[in-house]
Amino acid sequence: MSAPLVLGIETSCDETGVGVVRGAELLADALASSVDEHARFGGVVPEVASRAHVEAMVPTVHRALEAAHVSLAEVDAIAVTAGPGLAGALLVGVAAAKALALAAGKPLFGVNHLAAHVAVDRLAHGELPGPCVALLVSGGHSSLLIVPDVTGDVESLGQTIDDAAGEAFDKVARVLGLPFPGGPHIDAAARDGDAQAVAFPRGVVRDAPYSFTFSGLKTAVARWVEAREAAGERVPVADVAASFQEAVVDVLVTRAVAACRDRDVDHLVIGGGVAANSRLRAVAEQRCADAHIRLRVPPARLCTDNGAMVAALGALLVERGAAPASLDLAADPSLSLT
Ligand code: KG4
Ligand code: ZN
Repeated sequence: MSAPLVLGIETSCDETGVGVVRGAELLADALASSVDEHARFGGVVPEVASRAHVEAMVPTVHRALEAAHVSLAEVDAIAVTAGPGLAGALLVGVAAAKALALAAGKPLFGVNHLAAHVAVDRLAHGELPGPCVALLVSGGHSSLLIVPDVTGDVESLGQTIDDAAGEAFDKVARVLGLPFPGGPHIDAAARDGDAQAVAFPRGVVRDAPYSFTFSGLKTAVARWVEAREAAGERVPVADVAASFQEAVVDVLVTRAVAACRDRDVDHLVIGGGVAANSRLRAVAEQRCADAHIRLRVPPARLCTDNGAMVAALGALLVERGAAPASLDLAADPSLSLT
């Protein structure tokens, strides 16, 4: 059988993503984002995101098919994010995928959003060796996973117990007067700053060596900035951004490398929007090289939420002969990995 042509739909948060792949080959990755509509609220507003998905869905599907130079009739399967994510947002994608599958007579596959963040790397660097460790860091999730096979059960080693890493970037950006979403702005500001200027805390979760906590760090930054302001002093934005970023990156990379070492795994995949962070990429590269771990980070565009990642995992399921979902496939906001 030739590589399957799969259309993937992603709507778990604020990006309406529709991707088309042929096996591990990326043909199209169409995206419509409602991020600007959330900016003034300083975070994603679920109802606003759902409505934006409804408006963007049909045009984004058309754009993806056009860019891939294929018709819906040629597609072998439709894949969609079934969860985890925002309930209303997921529902729009799942309903659209069912409608397309029913109308065109195509098999439907519901996929896990986190597993799709891992599977997307096959589009950039070829098939994933199993097992690998995956660090997924975005505005909605911070998880450390061990992945024997991305189409099968995935074991969660740890996750954040409070804020997601990207959420911490967004909240600290707000404290520093930088726009939403804050990650790219902190990344840029930090380039001119001294990462050793302030020793911000590296949060540890008791009895959970692979879990994360960022709320203490976020509060420490806010207190530090408030103290400066109360004393009538100028806040050194670049230094604070660099010192905060260093604390997040240090914690993420230390935990990920420890997971690889403890589990005797020599491949690390990093995904999610925060994987676009230049300091995270640089530190991960350095420490993985030192520990003889092969690091795989997809290009930034495939790290943030997109439809191609869903299509990439869908194609793998088709290749493995997985059974399609029925038309009563449910959107599950807290879908687990097993
Ligand atoms: O994966 P994503 O696009 O959406 C989800 O949240 O699922 O991730 C968005 C998050 C935001 O919190 C944003 O601030 C963060 O990724 N982000 C970054 C960078 N680019 C995006 N964080 C740090 N450095 C960056 N360069
Ligand atoms: Zn995501």
